[in-house]
Amino acid sequence: MADQVSVLVICGSLRKGSYNAALTRALPALAPPEMKLITAPSFATLPLYNADMQETSGFPPPANDLAAAIRAADGVLFVTPEYNWSMPGGLKNAIDWVSRLKEQPFEGKPVAIQSCSAGPLGGARMQYHWRMSMTFLKAYIFGTPEIFVGNSASKFAKDTLELTDQPTKDIVKQQLAAFAKFIAKMKR
Ligand SMILES: Cc1cc2nc3c(=O)[nH]c(=O)nc-3n(C[C@H](O)[C@H](O)[C@H](O)COP(=O)(O)O)c2cc1C
Repeated sequence: MADQVSVLVICGSLRKGSYNAALTRALPALAPPEMKLITAPSFATLPLYNADMQETSGFPPPANDLAAAIRAADGVLFVTPEYNWSMPGGLKNAIDWVSRLKEQPFEGKPVAIQSCSAGPLGGARMQYHWRMSMTFLKAYIFGTPEIFVGNSASKFAKDTLELTDQPTKDIVKQQLAAFAKFIAKMKR
């Protein structure tokens, strides 16, 4: 079997009934056997980034916890909605906090993204903003296949939120297999 790779999964939605969170729950069944998926610590309680706060009271614990989890993982997978054609503010705020740490944890880290949205484009516009931020942070950005789960309500079971759409399962499976190979290559 190929070498084990650990992947930290960061969900960009804080909503209980989130389709993106539902997609993260579908991932273990779609991941290749060598990929171990880890749920990221929550960024929900992070205050809004403020350099004054950073200087006076230091980094809030959730920022340190998230950074430690990113550092410990071989790769990071974001699963997030698009808000107003961009990243959700809470997720961007979390990225902003960890990016100010000494030796920020995204440098040299393989990263990939998936998105579910109510709209037909499945979060495509947000993904390009995310790619810009990850480029600045010197992450190793996974390319294709891209995962855009548009019209998400039609892809999950109404009551259980189980992912039911076979083409989505197929492409997610392909992406995770390719991301595992990408990570293994970067580790060499
Ligand atoms: C503040 C806000 C902005 C949104 N902007 C977009 C958008 O730009 N594009 C889009 O496709 N959907 C947009 N939506 C709809 C989301 O795609 C939809 O609410 C989705 O279910 C959110 O993801 P979740 O189910 O994981 O929470 C927006 C929703 C909110 C709350």
